[in-house]
Amino acid sequence: MASRVSIWFSVFVLLVSSINVISAEEGEGQSGEFVLTLDHSNFSETVSKHAFVVVEFYAPWCGHCKNLAPEYEKAASILSRHDPPIILAKVDANEEVNKELASEFEIRGFPTLKILRNGGKNVQEYKGPREADGIAEFLKKQVGPASAVIQSVEDAGNLIGEKKIVVVGVFSEFSGEEFANFSFLAEKLRSEYDFGHTLDAKLLPRGESSVNGPTVRLFKPFDELFVDFQDFHVDALEKFVEEASVPSVTLFDKDPSNHPFVVKFFNSPNAKVDKVISAGAMLFLYFNSELFDAFKSKYHDVAKHYKGKGISFLLGDIEANQRAFEYFGLKDDQAPLIIIQNNDGQKYLKPNLEPDHIVPWLKEYTDGSLKPFKKSEPIPEINNEPVKVVVGDSLQDVVFNSGKNVLLEFYAPWCGHCKQLAPILDEVAVSFESDTDVIIAKLDATANDIPRDTFDVKGYPTLYFKSASGNLSQYDGGRKKEDIIDFIQKNRDKTIQQDLGER
Ligand SMILES: *[C@@H]1O[C@H](CO)[C@@H](O)[C@H](O)[C@H]1NC(C)=O
Ligand SMILES: *[C@@H]1O[C@H](CO)[C@@H](O)[C@H](O)[C@H]1NC(C)=O
Ligand SMILES: *[C@@H]1O[C@H](CO)[C@@H](O)[C@H](O)[C@H]1NC(C)=O
Repeated sequence: MASRVSIWFSVFVLLVSSINVISAEEGEGQSGEFVLTLDHSNFSETVSKHAFVVVEFYAPWCGHCKNLAPEYEKAASILSRHDPPIILAKVDANEEVNKELASEFEIRGFPTLKILRNGGKNVQEYKGPREADGIAEFLKKQVGPASAVIQSVEDAGNLIGEKKIVVVGVFSEFSGEEFANFSFLAEKLRSEYDFGHTLDAKLLPRGESSVNGPTVRLFKPFDELFVDFQDFHVDALEKFVEEASVPSVTLFDKDPSNHPFVVKFFNSPNAKVDKVISAGAMLFLYFNSELFDAFKSKYHDVAKHYKGKGISFLLGDIEANQRAFEYFGLKDDQAPLIIIQNNDGQKYLKPNLEPDHIVPWLKEYTDGSLKPFKKSEPIPEINNEPVKVVVGDSLQDVVFNSGKNVLLEFYAPWCGHCKQLAPILDEVAVSFESDTDVIIAKLDATANDIPRDTFDVKGYPTLYFKSASGNLSQYDGGRKKEDIIDFIQKNRDKTIQQDLGER
């Protein structure tokens, strides 16, 4: 289960980061004057003293964290004059001593920002903007009331607008159990949605002007534009808000007001709550293409057809999505294309798509008759360095079918610890060069899909050792040349020839 979550999560982090981060100069993770630096020794003490603290969990090697740092500092300086106080803090979650703290807050990617209220008693994920003014505005709103009272048409207009999700409770009085449950949920979800409450449905821009009993009206900038709901059990209400706020087709283009829904797409309630096999279908094309309207209308039909059946739909402009495109290992000449990723981490691809392909292809997918698609670099023609290059398409042959003892490193090109390890692995490989039963190999895990049910790769570098007889284990020993050689010698299987020779 954990690995499933992390697959979605990594896509999610990538996209959120590519959306929100304004390009900034490659700065240091510099410590300025306004952001508090916390660590395991003073975290609880500091947080418990404040009604409202935002904590950024970062890692020194993380590029998005470096981009955020000057914006975060500037926001902290703006907010330092705010009443009531809004404290911005940061924790280096990469430090060994802070890892317990990071795990307590379920940090799975960097940067992750948490809002801590009531001396740390309530914790919410920060999903707001990532540039200084946006951060400051968002947080100012977060310290006010969770739900805004609507007393005029003007109030309603200001709150609701055309671009976002707003959840409004209509009551005959601001008391009673329904109102209490609504307020409770508003407090819980306030970092994700805007909430309002009113005594008069006539003030609202859409929907019936009178309601029969307490009603929640959710306004949204897509599909049916508003939905009413009258079950005030907290869980039911929460499920309703989560589900109603996912568009039937999520648009992923350059318009930043669509981006919160993209984030939602990758964090969809199906995936979280119901644990049904759920999948995301993503259709990528150039939005300025002649066929855009034909694709869009077919795609919307399909989305309607599959509503509630565990597939969510996204329509992406390649122009605005280069990074997502690269992430999936896709090429320009494959577009227009549709790719499905399901919660098991399997991917399915239909390149060079035409509008009429969509329906039959999805049917093949749901029938289970499609073969998964695997991202892979080409198998290298020349592979004569001491450390052999393995790619997605050669993994099976080199590691599992070779009958050899294989030490395999999963690395990422940007990872500093991998760069440190590279010359050491080279030396290890050289020391086994005359031993044909041992292979030292590496795989760029950002450019190749790996079977997640076999390899649990959560960080880089991750090393695995597979003995000739097929015993597979993660290597978590020392990173010195001698440690690794020692391990291989102890765990390798001897081949038949060697066995005979020794007798
Ligand atoms: C917390 O402790 C760290 C390390 O000792 C220190 O650098 C930091 O300034 C402290 N922060 C606060 C708010 O006291
Ligand atoms: C309020 O929520 C609680 C917890 O879900 C539930 O037991 C109660 O029945 C709800 N009240 C109303 C009026 O729906
Ligand atoms: C497989 O590896 C594990 C961990 O290194 C070890 O405990 C076990 O004995 C090995 N099994 C065989 C059959 O070699």
